[in-house]
Amino acid sequence: KFKEKSDACKRVAREIGSLIRHRAAENRNCVLGLATGSTPIRVYRELVRMHREEGLSFHNVVTFNLDEYFPMQPTAPQSYVRFMNEHLFDHIDIVRSNVHIPNGTIELESVPGYCRDYDELIASCGGIDLQLLGIGRTGHIGFNEPGATRDTRTRLVKLDTLTRIDAVSDFGGIEYVPLLAITMGVDTILQAKRIRLLAFGEHKADIVQRAIETRMNATVPATFLQAHRDVQYLLDEDAAECLT
Ligand code: F6R
Repeated sequence: KFKEKSDACKRVAREIGSLIRHRAAENRNCVLGLATGSTPIRVYRELVRMHREEGLSFHNVVTFNLDEYFPMQPTAPQSYVRFMNEHLFDHIDIVRSNVHIPNGTIELESVPGYCRDYDELIASCGGIDLQLLGIGRTGHIGFNEPGATRDTRTRLVKLDTLTRIDAVSDFGGIEYVPLLAITMGVDTILQAKRIRLLAFGEHKADIVQRAIETRMNATVPATFLQAHRDVQYLLDEDAAECLT
């Protein structure tokens, strides 16, 4: 628990930075799982600062984003491609071919094969070293909404109504919010070696409490993180308020 969310974000950014440097020293890649949304923005800001001021290089970094709306053009203002470029990739020296974000433009019939390939690519890169997560008010991680079981892999999913309502301000009306998304599955996420979940603000307090203090169940997919042996929840005081 942190007094300021900026302290939590700096802590995670420092951990990511040292992991990247550690791997670089061994001539190895560092594989990061990344999230979008308002929560991790300051982590990315801090990583950009470390790149500019501390010479942190991303040349050995491979990234996999959790999710993308479907359908979604990468050039659309709401796309997670645009989000990641604006907040991180445009400001660092990452090799563009090392960046992976689910493709919101593929044909519906190609989606299952595409999703299988996404999981296989993660595995062939050696798996995710550190997965950054936020949590939705539905208890989703990635876009694994209530009902998503522990064994789910990358796939096309329906967005929960509450999740779509939370996205209205980005889209300018509920009718413009996509109904679907491609997301890594719960099992895909659980295979990451380290998981760092960030949650800030009183609107997350109730779901954070349920994620941590109720038994694992698909109604709150974030409860499945309890099965992971290296997960940390980095919270501000507001988000931690309901924990006993
Ligand atoms: C984003 C993602 C989502 C968000 C969650 C919280 O890639 O997978 O699970 O992490 O919806 O969003 P914010 O941070 O905007 O509250």
